[in-house]
Amino acid sequence: MKVLVATEKPFAKAAVDGIRSIVEEAGHTLVLLEKYTDASELKAAVADADALIVRSDKVTREVVEAAGKLKIVVRAGAGYDNLDLATCTEKGVVAMNTPGQNSNAVAELAIGMMIYMSRNQFTPGTGRELKGKTVGIHAYGNVGRLVAMIARNGFGMNVIAFDPFVPAEKMAADGVKAVASIEELYANADFLSLHIPATEQTKGSIGRKLVGSMPKGACLVNTARKEVINEDELIAVLAEREDLKYITDIAAVKMDEMKEKFGARVFATPKKQGAETAEANINAGLAAARQICKFFATGDRTFQVNK
Ligand code: 3PG
Repeated sequence: MKVLVATEKPFAKAAVDGIRSIVEEAGHTLVLLEKYTDASELKAAVADADALIVRSDKVTREVVEAAGKLKIVVRAGAGYDNLDLATCTEKGVVAMNTPGQNSNAVAELAIGMMIYMSRNQFTPGTGRELKGKTVGIHAYGNVGRLVAMIARNGFGMNVIAFDPFVPAEKMAADGVKAVASIEELYANADFLSLHIPATEQTKGSIGRKLVGSMPKGACLVNTARKEVINEDELIAVLAEREDLKYITDIAAVKMDEMKEKFGARVFATPKKQGAETAEANINAGLAAARQICKFFATGDRTFQVNK
């Protein structure tokens, strides 16, 4: 089988080497398409591929339709909002992600972002410490839970969380207080760490009402997706509340406007950096390769997301 790794933002070399070993040991062939700049290159490369590994690369209807032999696509990472699941299902292509494999990298970045904003982006002046502050975890999945653990056990922060899909007892066992509503979460969070996926329900759901309810001096930390933010409402609330801050691992569409209006109260990484560690690349990349080989060998569909 031909396995294509198509990464506009390439994996670390160690991850590519590991993927190649797994794929070739299973008797398959690895093809690499890295740093491509146009979707046409992906469409051409995928034409005779049986399997595809991507990161945030957009696997659109056009890409799936160009992939006549494709049987499986694995998003090496957590969020699969870049995959057109409906088309995958329609064309009989199994779509998977690799949950948990890059979570630690993202969690560490979220904590780093809290420090960065608390220390005035490392510019001169008096900052604040994380110790004793309250961090609100919006969605207690793999990343949210790790942020909670690092914040509580490493920094002595109070941790509250909201996730309708996770029982309060599970959070309590981690020393985390489950709050009853999303409103209660935001109203009590000095730092709000976002870990919700981008879905039709969540897109544009974080706006004026929630952010505007945060305590004085609070900071919204977004290592999730820019799409979950209602940017116009965020701009409005940052204008009303001069004490609030926003840091994001993927620039808002209106980032230039935000920077112009709010200066050092907002910050965005130049390119998405959450999972950009050698460890995360290796964990997620190798997991993707193993999942593909297992699928071809046994039909295993664990981690399928288009059921
Ligand atoms: C994820 O959903 O796993 C992260 O956003 C990582 O995305 P990346 O592989 O494009 O860095």
